Amino acid sequence: MSQQSAPRPTDLVVFGGTGDLSMRKLLPSLYLLDRDGHLDGETRVVAVSRDGLSDADLRDKAAAAVRGHHAVQVAEPDVLARFLGRLSHVTVDVGGDPSGWSDLADILGSDRDRVFYLAVPPMISGAICRGLADAGLVTPRSRVVMEKPLGRDLASSQEVNDAVGAVFDESQTYRIDHYLGKETVQNLLVLRFANVFLEPLWNSRWIDHVQITAAETVGVGGRRGYYDTSGAMRDMVQNHLLQLLCLTAMEPPASYDREAVRDEKLKVLQSLRPLTGERVAEDAVRGQYVAGTVQGAEVPGYLDEPGGSATSTAETFVALRAEIANWRWAGVPFYLRTGKRLAHNRSEIVIRFREVPHTIFPGTNTLPGAGSLVIRLQPDEGIHLTMLAKTPGAGALRLRPVPLELSFANTFATRSPEAYERLLMDVLAGDSTLFMRRDEVEAAWRWVDPIIEAWNGQSTTPETYPAGSAGPAGAHRLIGRTGRTWYEEEQPR
Ligand code: BG6
Repeated sequence: MSQQSAPRPTDLVVFGGTGDLSMRKLLPSLYLLDRDGHLDGETRVVAVSRDGLSDADLRDKAAAAVRGHHAVQVAEPDVLARFLGRLSHVTVDVGGDPSGWSDLADILGSDRDRVFYLAVPPMISGAICRGLADAGLVTPRSRVVMEKPLGRDLASSQEVNDAVGAVFDESQTYRIDHYLGKETVQNLLVLRFANVFLEPLWNSRWIDHVQITAAETVGVGGRRGYYDTSGAMRDMVQNHLLQLLCLTAMEPPASYDREAVRDEKLKVLQSLRPLTGERVAEDAVRGQYVAGTVQGAEVPGYLDEPGGSATSTAETFVALRAEIANWRWAGVPFYLRTGKRLAHNRSEIVIRFREVPHTIFPGTNTLPGAGSLVIRLQPDEGIHLTMLAKTPGAGALRLRPVPLELSFANTFATRSPEAYERLLMDVLAGDSTLFMRRDEVEAAWRWVDPIIEAWNGQSTTPETYPAGSAGPAGAHRLIGRTGRTWYEEEQPR
């Protein structure tokens, strides 16, 4: 969708290059870009770590990561060989022995674009950027990519942004939120702004409420330590869910230009009504899973997952009622919900339209599920609109909600790229439309911080819910208070 220029020779330097993100997402996505002709023949990938790996060791590890990736299926031997040939490893001890920086300098070409990808915890981003600057490695054609979480609150996020901003200009800074790289998320903009029929309905007059859900069956896996300090609020809501809310609620930008799009998203974040003090107890629910059964398998509770505190109060589930205080959305609740170890993997945005102002079909206005537009991000990407239709037959007039379905897999023969493929391609092309600007990230923290502070000040702990369930009872009370229901509860699937 964004304007892609031809790929240019680039040195892509990945700090944390042998770590989990690099192996699970970045290297397989780069392989796919290479396979599909999106990397310049001269582009190289330098993995930086403290591991002291040889290039051969790195290539073995990378080959296994590529072969094991679900989107690769069968690695094409000549493409894999070409891709592995682009890889090398450099050992840099950030903040320690400085010799690694000159090893890195020796490897980088002077006539190329440079992308420094920080796949590391945010606290060391600043030290890496200073190291790069001191070694004279930052050129006007350099870019830096930062991963979430960008800090753990507004103050720490500002610190990280200041430290990185001391070396890289904002225009060179790419803050990743991988949800923005998902096909359906970009399609949401197309759906809203390339079609004429939705816009007149897209406001409080015709929309009753919005539900944004990112439900996962996975637990915290090997990330218990991180999760104890993060929780779902920082891990999912501050970034992914709020970005989805922005794209759903924003005004039409003047163009598909990075600043125009990001300006509109920022206005949404700035219009969020603060959730503070008493209102947190009412409009925010946090949960933590206990042992249960997920899709037939017994799984331990959060506190029994290895690597964390036995008394942690980290939330693995959050449900919130947000309000956007502007003309378009006044009075329309946005229900946000995310959790681990839930019954299903399901990420979707549900727009629930209002009932008709006057029905000529008595008793049918409130049929469950009628008048919903569902934008499904995963597992099966698509758009799904339920409308009321007449049930065929000559007897009494009967109405039933029926779906109009657009399945991307069935409609488009081409494979949807992975979120990281899309975003890496944009970084290489120098297009930051789908990345978060500093003021957006900070506005999101400004809204999230008081909720976390209120939780920290409460004597209560997260409500428990059994793994494999639909989440804590509080989430049902939250939406049920106004007579509304979570979409999946009214809509048999
Ligand atoms: C990551 C979170 O950003 O997103 C994870 O840190 C979460 O906790 C993941 O599982 C979900 O991403 P996706 O693409 O699988 O929905």
